Amino acid sequence: MATLIKFFVTLSIFSLLACSTINAQLSPNFYAKTCSNLQTIVRNEMIKVIQKEARMGASILRLFFHDCFVNGCDASILLDDKGTFVGEKNSGPNQGSARGFEVIDTIKTSVETACKATVSCADILALATRDGIALLGGPSWAVPLGRRDARTASQSAANSQIPGPSSDLSTLTRMFQNKSLTLNDLTVLSGAHTIGQTECQFFRNRIHNEANIDRNLATLRKRNCPTSGGDTNLAPFDSVTPTKFDNNYYKDLIANKGLLHSDQVLFNGGGSQISLVRKYSRDGAAFSRDFAAAMVKMSKISPLTGTNGEIRKNCRIVN
Ligand code: HEM
Ligand SMILES: *[C@@H]1O[C@H](CO)[C@@H](O)[C@H](O)[C@H]1NC(C)=O
Repeated sequence: MATLIKFFVTLSIFSLLACSTINAQLSPNFYAKTCSNLQTIVRNEMIKVIQKEARMGASILRLFFHDCFVNGCDASILLDDKGTFVGEKNSGPNQGSARGFEVIDTIKTSVETACKATVSCADILALATRDGIALLGGPSWAVPLGRRDARTASQSAANSQIPGPSSDLSTLTRMFQNKSLTLNDLTVLSGAHTIGQTECQFFRNRIHNEANIDRNLATLRKRNCPTSGGDTNLAPFDSVTPTKFDNNYYKDLIANKGLLHSDQVLFNGGGSQISLVRKYSRDGAAFSRDFAAAMVKMSKISPLTGTNGEIRKNCRIVN
């Protein structure tokens, strides 16, 4: 009997070890004992931030997307270029448009005060993203936690693995598949463009040269985005409710009011996702549900766990 018990104890210790090293899992309860106030701290900061500027919820969400698509959700996007260290901030998709870094710094400072050297920047970004979306009227969900922070970044991966605004459906599909995300995931995650803004340079060709665009929207957007000049002038993605996380993005697509080429191809590029666009345009609850599930999926792209990576002290610099 004693040997049998010993055998099972050994077995369970072994599987615990195996679990944390070989196949470490993220868990919503990861900081329950080590930083029980974490979620309250992040949420309270995000409330203040969104009250000041609603768009910041969108900007943080985009940071998270661009983090996860480059070697996983490991806070690599937060690292500054410094000396010989080349980060991702000056890659094509991020330079001049990625924003919200100070918000993550502020949250990190509050979290460090409460729980020193405990919570990763990657997890803070994941939580801030969730809260921003919820505060703008979108869904909420339990964020799997336990990511650790990268000691490296890759400008070249940022340049090659984050999709661009003039991408066709085949390119978008391929780039999402490369992250183990399906065509359905692409379709629902693109609904993130229900909030936030985009610079003229990214939609200029669409409003001036494409045929499948609503004439009134094209006329309106051309006022602030001429054929040349005004590259960084901003326009909202969502033609009706740009600070509300709702399903209007899909109504826009059906009305040829998608602002980026990469938005409109979800409806006009052929393919099986067209019916999903129609469904989300009718059923906001289905969109919210599927979006939350897809965010959880995206948030699990190649996390550093266990003893890999580190808990960065300052989100901008490796320890
Ligand atoms: C499918 C391919 C995608 C392309 C080509 C794309 C491209 C872009 C571009 C060009 C901008 C404008 C940036 C600027 O002018 O500052 C933008 C903004 C944004 N993107 Fe995407 N995006 C894609 C998917 C996603 C996904 C999957 C998410 C999140 C799940 C996302 C979230 C956002 C948000 C929230 C903004 C607004 C940011 C702000 O207002 O600061 N995008 N995107
Ligand atoms: C994604 O692309 C990278 C680099 O191009 C490659 O190493 C990796 O295996 C690809 N992953 C998948 C799931 O296709």
